[in-house]
Amino acid sequence: MKLLITGADGQLGRELTKQYNEIKDVELILTGISELDITDMEAVYEFVNNHKPEVIINCAAHTAVDKCEIDVDMAYKINTIGPKNLATAAYAIGAEIVQVSTDYVFDGERDIELTEFDEVNPKTVYGKTKLEGERVVSKLNPKHYIVRTAWLYGDGNNFVKTMIKLSETNKTLKVVNDQKGTPTSTVDLARVIISLVKNKNYGLFHCTCKGECTWYDLTKEIFKIKGIDTKVIPCTTDEFPRPAKRPEYSVLRNYMLELTTGDITRTWQEALKDYLENKES
Ligand SMILES: NC(=O)c1ccc[n+]([C@@H]2O[C@H](COP(=O)([O-])OP(=O)(O)OC[C@H]3O[C@@H](n4cnc5c(N)ncnc54)[C@H](OP(=O)(O)O)[C@@H]3O)[C@@H](O)[C@H]2O)c1
Repeated sequence: MKLLITGADGQLGRELTKQYNEIKDVELILTGISELDITDMEAVYEFVNNHKPEVIINCAAHTAVDKCEIDVDMAYKINTIGPKNLATAAYAIGAEIVQVSTDYVFDGERDIELTEFDEVNPKTVYGKTKLEGERVVSKLNPKHYIVRTAWLYGDGNNFVKTMIKLSETNKTLKVVNDQKGTPTSTVDLARVIISLVKNKNYGLFHCTCKGECTWYDLTKEIFKIKGIDTKVIPCTTDEFPRPAKRPEYSVLRNYMLELTTGDITRTWQEALKDYLENKES
């Protein structure tokens, strides 16, 4: 099977590359922005037509949520137009497309686990542009897998690494304790994406690890596993005003996985322990 991974230098792109490299009969074409800028329609059509992948996995995105509020055009270009270009180019050669999306398509204002059948209502530019990315992909290519994830960490910059770094220079740290979500390892997300593609299980899927916590809970767990004695103090979102509104309750249920091939993700605590013990030390 010939696969194109765009945004291959990002957290998810790296993990997918690693896992696919362990699978036989997979030929990978890996592109970062310098090899293929997904916002460049002509370049995308030409590249896809020349290489003829059977599956395109789009890991490229504008993930800086606050910057998207200021850089609206760039956010739409990368998160909506890029996926549109890839979905169309894939359709023209009969290829499938995987588009990765986010919990930010919801408003996060209700205290319930959200399934794929719940109403979307993004409150940020990032969320709006990612939702439009989902929509164009599903309209333009019927052979699509749209996978929403949240609070992602892996090989790259992420919250887990930031907290460990901050602990090196701080005796106490204030961390937000009124936003809930599910920390998700790229390992679990990549496993699910590989399984969806293998089973040709097309459609819209939620994919996070299991359980829920606040950023404060997550920090406490990171420090417990790493034996870090920096004191963690809970605080409110209002104490850290940010340009993009953060969802209060953003817990996704992997309902479509449960209803189809099964949910193979681990609890967020198991996945985090594995990440910190095996990948970080
Ligand atoms: N990170 C999270 O917490 C989170 C949560 C929910 C959903 N997601 C979604 O999960 C997916 C993977 O996220 P991630 O954390 O792996 O992202 P990431 O680490 O930020 O990687 C994104 C990659 O896309 C590249 N890129 C940006 N613009 C591009 C363009 N025009 N053409 C080609 N490549 C481009 C970036 O390159 P540069 O670094 O050079 O810009 C980067 O390597 C994304 O769709 C994201 O929206 C992430």
